[in-house]
Amino acid sequence: MSTIIFDTATNLFYLQTEKSSYVMMLQKGAYLMHLYWGRQIPVDDITWSCEPPYRRWSRIVDPEPESDFYTSEYWPFEYPVYGSSDFRPPAIEIENLQGYSLCDLKYRSHSIYRGKGSLQGLPSLGEYQQDRATTLEIVLYDAIMEIDVVLFYSVFDQSDVLCRHSEICNKGDDPVIIRKALSSSIDMKHGNLQMIQFSGTALRERYPVKRALAYGTTSVESTRGISSHIQNPCTLFTRGSADEFQGEAYGQNLMYSGNFIASAHIDQYDSARIQLGLNPFNFSWLLASLNVFTTPETILVYSDQGTNGVSQEFHHALTALLPPGSTRVAERLIGLNTWEACYFDISHLKLMQLAEKAKEAGIELITLDDGWFGRRNDDHSSLGDWNVNKHKFPKGLNAVSEELHQMGLKFGLWLEPEMVSPESDFYNEHPDWCLHIPGRKRTQWRYQLVLDLSKNEVCDYLIEMVSEILRTSGVDYVKWDMNRRLTEVGNELGSSVGQREISHRYILGLYRLLDTLVKRFPNVCFENCASGGGRYDAGMLYYLPQAWPSDNTDPSSRMKILYGSTFGYPLSNFRSHVTDSPNHQLGRRHSLQFREHVATCGILGYELDITKLDQQEIDVIQEHNCWYKQYRSIIQNGVFYRLEDPFIGNKAAFQVVSQDKKTTIFWFFRYRAEPEEAYFQIKLCGLDPAEHYKCLETGRCYHAKTLMNLGLTLPWVNHDDLSVRWTFSRLDD
Ligand code: GLA
Repeated sequence: MSTIIFDTATNLFYLQTEKSSYVMMLQKGAYLMHLYWGRQIPVDDITWSCEPPYRRWSRIVDPEPESDFYTSEYWPFEYPVYGSSDFRPPAIEIENLQGYSLCDLKYRSHSIYRGKGSLQGLPSLGEYQQDRATTLEIVLYDAIMEIDVVLFYSVFDQSDVLCRHSEICNKGDDPVIIRKALSSSIDMKHGNLQMIQFSGTALRERYPVKRALAYGTTSVESTRGISSHIQNPCTLFTRGSADEFQGEAYGQNLMYSGNFIASAHIDQYDSARIQLGLNPFNFSWLLASLNVFTTPETILVYSDQGTNGVSQEFHHALTALLPPGSTRVAERLIGLNTWEACYFDISHLKLMQLAEKAKEAGIELITLDDGWFGRRNDDHSSLGDWNVNKHKFPKGLNAVSEELHQMGLKFGLWLEPEMVSPESDFYNEHPDWCLHIPGRKRTQWRYQLVLDLSKNEVCDYLIEMVSEILRTSGVDYVKWDMNRRLTEVGNELGSSVGQREISHRYILGLYRLLDTLVKRFPNVCFENCASGGGRYDAGMLYYLPQAWPSDNTDPSSRMKILYGSTFGYPLSNFRSHVTDSPNHQLGRRHSLQFREHVATCGILGYELDITKLDQQEIDVIQEHNCWYKQYRSIIQNGVFYRLEDPFIGNKAAFQVVSQDKKTTIFWFFRYRAEPEEAYFQIKLCGLDPAEHYKCLETGRCYHAKTLMNLGLTLPWVNHDDLSVRWTFSRLDD
């Protein structure tokens, strides 16, 4: 049972999730210290000897905060500041009009209540699951700066996540400048911690990289205005020999889609300070008198079941604790996307030809990708001119939608609303609506500029523009794209502080835009895309229930991207398409079966000219679609395991277990044959240990313990592209 307690005798704040504990202490009623985060400590034993965590006894001159001989360097702070005697990275930096930035945060009050509030303009967990949440608010203050900092913590029934964020309130008469305001900071014993980050670039997003932490700061960040392909706001920490299946693992993820920093600092006494939040680089915020600044929310997970344990909690939280719209819970549709099928060379006729074959193959949704509007025959023009291209679609989009609906298919549409092409009518009308620095060159990327979503009038315009398209074209599905990073982050409204607010204001504008649209069109399913996985983060997932994780559709790359992505994000967010062989990005050839097997581990779709396939191939596709329709709700809602790491050797294996443990699906991929290979034996996880399971494809029955302890022996073939997808059903009688 998740709970939060304050014990007046010991001055301890005790937060309990289903399996973990998080403990803070008020040092002499003044400073808030972090004591513990890890495997559960019994709540009825709250007087456990929580010795103050002196880190170096000889140097603790005086533990009395009011004493002249008090020093903060040796203490584990819950929300640290810089300026007196703690020289580690602070969580917050505020500057007053005189230019002083010392802040000394002391305890004022706290409250504990059932439920959880929303974050002003920002996504957060559990807003719609109030009956599952318990929240703690701790108010800290600095009397001279006249600042209150409120720390928020929430835990949820039947969950192991803990959410944190803070609010900074200016109680004085003068404005102050926020230079840094992180969402979370946790001091813990170093004890052989490693950090796992998810790094890459477009076409190889979220490859896991594990680093041992050493003295100093280890960090990943984004300064691109989007969470980015290069680094991801999700990071994990493992202790000692912990691996995917056992040992202590910690996860932190930020519900934010812009510039972030995730870091771990190891100090001279082997303490780790793990932090996450808005990137202070090129950021500041002018906080007027009586105003409040809210940080994004950090999601924290501890597991003693290794990194799979952490991931499963993230998966649960990023489905069950998000807004419960019908498109979030609906079964994911099998789609066909026109992009790799015909790129810009699309027309009404071509779309209908694709649709006809798609229908025959059991596909349910046709998504009209780029190229349907303005003079868009390549990527040089027309973003902003969102009117249908009458040469390609003479009868308009509504006719497309009607015809598709008559065939029993859904209609999806690609949009990239945040962008403008300099070669467009829209740009000529609103040259100042893009991010720019007056007098400077406007850097183009893919021949386009970014609209300034920090401006209310731009967001208001986009809300109405997208609404009009959705209202008039009968669209069931939107692929929301964003194909560049932010440069010249500025506008003509310049003030020295205001310009450094724009990156964050951009994200607040984006969230307002998305929030309004998804609420206005609750039956339209939105998919998040940013040149593939450039904004694959929990903030976007709050608004848009699924994502296009990469523009790399090569199946042997895809399994690596899937592997890395699932550390932080659920399978229900991961769209995967069967595309041409040879593959358009890497030129590799893979059998249709191999491509299908990879794409069914996620949200299945197609992105190829299906009219060019022969009947035998259509039959194969039909068969896989049939299988997928039967099992997709388990794939979407089951418990997911990474069994084999595709970055080691030439194979990958994944498994999903249904919540009732009656069904499990197992995928194995060995994409490159090696000489004299031994048989592969892979152990399954998460089955009911007392039961037998039957493999529906081979007809063989196994005891669950055999599957979990000895494992499955995979078939051997002397060529590339060995893949299996086996479905096991529990024998209940
Ligand atoms: C981006 C997307 C692709 C496709 C193109 C269209 O690159 O990631 O899937 O939609 O834009 O221009």
